[in-house]
Amino acid sequence: MTAVAIIGGSGLTNLKNLRITRREVIRTPHGEPSAPMVFGQLGGQEAVFLPRHGPGHTIPPHEVNYRANIWAIKLTGVSKVIAVNAVGGISPGYLAAGTLVIPDQVIDYTYGRAHTFFGSEQKKVTHIDFTHPYCEDLRQTIIQAGERAKISVVGRGTYGATQGPRFESAAEIRRMERDGSDIVGMTGMPEAGLARELGLCYASLALVVNPAAGKTKDIISIKDIETNLETGMASVRSLLEQVIPLIVYD
Ligand code: HPA
Repeated sequence: MTAVAIIGGSGLTNLKNLRITRREVIRTPHGEPSAPMVFGQLGGQEAVFLPRHGPGHTIPPHEVNYRANIWAIKLTGVSKVIAVNAVGGISPGYLAAGTLVIPDQVIDYTYGRAHTFFGSEQKKVTHIDFTHPYCEDLRQTIIQAGERAKISVVGRGTYGATQGPRFESAAEIRRMERDGSDIVGMTGMPEAGLARELGLCYASLALVVNPAAGKTKDIISIKDIETNLETGMASVRSLLEQVIPLIVYD
């Protein structure tokens, strides 16, 4: 049985160190997931991989079918999900490109995305607890893997999820900072909420690829982001390889 799913973000459309065993197209009542599920071995354990933006990185953050992705992951039978997210850094301590953050909180600034499985087609109104939006056990496992592998990881932080695909204005980032956001990305929600609705243990592994808008005197450079994605995803891949063997089946 497969214990864990990895959702790859920008810069991680394939997991080079995954020894692929098979691919499976999964259909869901919510439409097509971003790609066929890729099953394989990573760090000596079975894992399944899904590139959030599609195999060729063609699906923008606001058009990802988050419901289909999470539903399809649930259908594979895994109970744990590690989501990889590229982010901008807002707070001091989260600004340097290459910083790995395991967020413990989220603020949702997205709009108009299909964000729930619990609409009016449900027989009765359903609410879920989201006090602690990320799975604490899995967060701790990732932090522990970082310590063992001597890969530096920031073990907490608030992820502010914005709509995209444009980056934010400097004033939007100032507002997010006042709200308590430490990092900013476009894909953290509704993914985390949907995972909670289906009872999946979900954590995010966020890679800082740029200082957020207005945090330096320069404007955001796409070229720098691309370079930082490439270097940073190498650490993400090796951290994932360390995390997988520590994950226990349940
Ligand atoms: N803002 C939003 N999403 C992002 C950023 C950013 O600065 N960097 C990477 N993803």
